[in-house]
Amino acid sequence: MTLQIAPSMLAADFARLAAEAALVADTADWLHVDVMDGHFVPNLTIGLPVVAALLKHAALPLDCHLMIADPDRWAPDYASAGARNVTIHAEAATAPVRTLRAIRAAGARAGLAVNPGTAVEPYADLLPEVDLLLVMTVEPGFGGQRFLDLVLPKLRRASNLIARHGGEIWLQVDGGVTEETIGRCAEAGADVFVAGTAVFGAQGPCAAVERLRAVATAAWDRGRRCGGGSAG
Ligand code: DX5
Ligand code: ZN
Repeated sequence: MTLQIAPSMLAADFARLAAEAALVADTADWLHVDVMDGHFVPNLTIGLPVVAALLKHAALPLDCHLMIADPDRWAPDYASAGARNVTIHAEAATAPVRTLRAIRAAGARAGLAVNPGTAVEPYADLLPEVDLLLVMTVEPGFGGQRFLDLVLPKLRRASNLIARHGGEIWLQVDGGVTEETIGRCAEAGADVFVAGTAVFGAQGPCAAVERLRAVATAAWDRGRRCGGGSAG
């Protein structure tokens, strides 16, 4: 199992996106791009034209997290544009199966996200349709929020669902992930870690990614030895 670190461009300087992406190109795995529409979440960021522009300059694969009210309409376009992963929110999608299939058909990995207050069990039957399950560890909409420990039991349950399902499904956490909180996520079974402030708010974003990876890897090993992801 290779843990993935995905710095969130939300915490980068939006006027220098390509240069900021280059700062983490040697140590990170994916670039996380937060698309917000001012409806599903009370914040407005960037959309398809900026993602398409970034795709031309970024060395790392783009992991697009769509916090938008109509993902069924827009998600396949992000996949067609060349994003590696396209994640839609369970709370927003009206036809998640169709949309997840359309994302895959357009050549990307399909992701499904759940907010802190959304249970994961109702989506267990959708696991064959997804390549990535995103368990939000803050309410979506803004960077720099405090990590919600109350999500950890759900993260463990999600890890168990994935283990029972079998196959390759990434378990991603997003929100408040820092050197202090990433270990708890890894022990609970997460294997993809989005971090915005902890990377681009650090003095050296490149080194910050390596520190996050080191803490996560140690905790992940500990979790497997002690049955973290498979307990509870
Ligand atoms: C929040 C976004 C996150 C955000 C995380 O809604 O989905 O990706 O950038 O930022 P930090 O790591 O600062 O909490
Ligand atoms: Zn995000």
